[in-house]
Amino acid sequence: MIDLTSSKDQHLFVDAYLLAQQRVRSLVENDPDFYPMYTHEGKWRHDLPPWTYWCDGFLPGMMWIFAASDPDESSAQWWREQAIRYTRPLEPRKHDGDVHDLGFIFMTTFYRWFEITDDSEINDVLVQAARTLASRYQPGGRYLASFISNESMFIDVMMNVGLLFHAALEVSSTELMDIAMQTCLSVRRKLVRGDGSVAQEGIFDPATGEFLRQSTHQGYRADSCWSRGLSWAIYGFSNAFEYCGDARLVLTAEACADFYIHHCPSNGVPLWDFDVPSNGDAPVDTSAAAIAASGLFKLARVIPDITKGHLYGQVARKILRTLCEDHLAADTHHEGILRNGVYHMHQKLGINESVIWGDYYFVEALDEALRNEEVLP
Ligand code: GLY
Repeated sequence: MIDLTSSKDQHLFVDAYLLAQQRVRSLVENDPDFYPMYTHEGKWRHDLPPWTYWCDGFLPGMMWIFAASDPDESSAQWWREQAIRYTRPLEPRKHDGDVHDLGFIFMTTFYRWFEITDDSEINDVLVQAARTLASRYQPGGRYLASFISNESMFIDVMMNVGLLFHAALEVSSTELMDIAMQTCLSVRRKLVRGDGSVAQEGIFDPATGEFLRQSTHQGYRADSCWSRGLSWAIYGFSNAFEYCGDARLVLTAEACADFYIHHCPSNGVPLWDFDVPSNGDAPVDTSAAAIAASGLFKLARVIPDITKGHLYGQVARKILRTLCEDHLAADTHHEGILRNGVYHMHQKLGINESVIWGDYYFVEALDEALRNEEVLP
């Protein structure tokens, strides 16, 4: 259970935010136009495999956040220029039908760009990306298939349906809206368990739509709760509820958040899987904690129960505090922002390393904590 005893932590968050800006700036200066994924021995550049291609939006996504928050106009202008420079090359991915991850790529970049410009050409990119993502829909089982195969649905599809909701509302498409909703309901029914824990993957018979079993790639076991998967669910269901207002989705986000809170160590940072034996050498996953913090801020904003919202905001701040105090990559050997993330335990990729999505959601949560007084206890 997470310990909520509070202290004055605003200065911690400001220092971490400045470190994050400095790390992103030096990456732009030292390795221009490189899109990092996970570090190896503290360095972003290495020859290890990506496993799948879902991460190119996170670096420019941080630049868009910095551009929107920097009080110094010339510095904000520099961040905007970099954000555009790193966002434009991603446009061809709007036709990439091989992954279920287009929400990760486009909502961090073109959506943030569209938010501040309202430019219809930028919105057209988002709508095309949504239509491409929708082409992965399996009408039998009613879900968007993961990059693995048509029989597979991943929990992190919840982070991608936001792209469909956005496009559906922009072009008044009942088809896109239906695909987004049906996918949310399938994840809720097949991957979220009665206690609020989640499975990473569901396997279907694509011909009949019959659900066959829960499974995992990055979790400890098929019936365990992979920590990052749970965080994707907290964030993703809160986000989907914000778009469509369907009460089932906020109840699911709440169940997942409560599982996180009740099963996490008191400092708010979980081991890489909630069911892995805690014999002292199992690594934590700080990216799961950063995503949970940002997702809990979102849930705090959208949940109708104000008391629970206040609790979720406090938990998010506690998680951020621990990340700032114990997991910042403050020494210069590390090129990332947060240490102690985990990408893929079984494939031995990015273990106890920085991961770009951990850095992105950490920055997003810090930005929320620093700008929105309403989430402060
Ligand atoms: N979306 C894949 C992961 O969370 O590692």
